Amino acid sequence: MILGISASGRTQSVTSDAVHAVLDATSLPTEFISLAGKRISGCLGCVGCAADNRCVVSDDWPAIAERMIAADAVVFGAPNYYGTLNALGHACLERTFCFRHRETFTLAGKLGIAVAIDRSRTESPVLAFIQRVMTSNLMPVVGSLRADGVSQCYDCGFGEDCAVGSVVAAHGFLDCILEEHRPPPFSEQEEPRQRAVKLGKTLGSILRARENDGIASS
Ligand SMILES: Cc1cc2nc3c(=O)[nH]c(=O)nc-3n(C[C@H](O)[C@H](O)[C@H](O)COP(=O)(O)O)c2cc1C
Repeated sequence: MILGISASGRTQSVTSDAVHAVLDATSLPTEFISLAGKRISGCLGCVGCAADNRCVVSDDWPAIAERMIAADAVVFGAPNYYGTLNALGHACLERTFCFRHRETFTLAGKLGIAVAIDRSRTESPVLAFIQRVMTSNLMPVVGSLRADGVSQCYDCGFGEDCAVGSVVAAHGFLDCILEEHRPPPFSEQEEPRQRAVKLGKTLGSILRARENDGIASS
């Protein structure tokens, strides 16, 4: 099973579209978890997990941890907030600290794909963080993809004539925001869309080969 996680706080989101695009291309059984509406605290550093690699903090994380343990691969996507990972995604990845104690690496060998919704044109800090956490968990990273997000100014209800918003920055003052003004959704971002298909097909191929060799966990 391949687990996709969207760390966006929104149910209809560019992150979830991008994660789904990778999952769909694998042609293998998948599960998808949206962190929208979930309550996930950051790691407290309490080391209550040291003895058995299980986090003792009671919130929505333990159920996600169980699905990670059951997965052969994790496709983790998160948006850029203020030049870094959004807090929900950061908290979720911090909590994988519980999987790394006493020479036990619960996620070791599971494959990872990192997805960032990020307008950074140089190296994405979001991708760098996701990959760093995967590597810390001894998860080989198959690859990564970056796509553009949407500015909240297009949906806040005031964007068309807000002098400090990104709609006016891109189009000048408008009477109303039309479809043609909106940034392209993930499905219309050709390069990231192609990359999602390539990554998904590659991941599916590797996992099928593993299964044939009898080394996949499910
Ligand atoms: C609080 C906040 C801060 C943001 N900061 C950035 C930023 O620094 N760089 C960037 O590329 N996008 C930034 N964005 C835009 C989001 O990355 C964009 O809305 C993205 O589409 C959100 O992901 P989602 O569609 O999956 O919810 C920010 C959005 C919010 C709400």
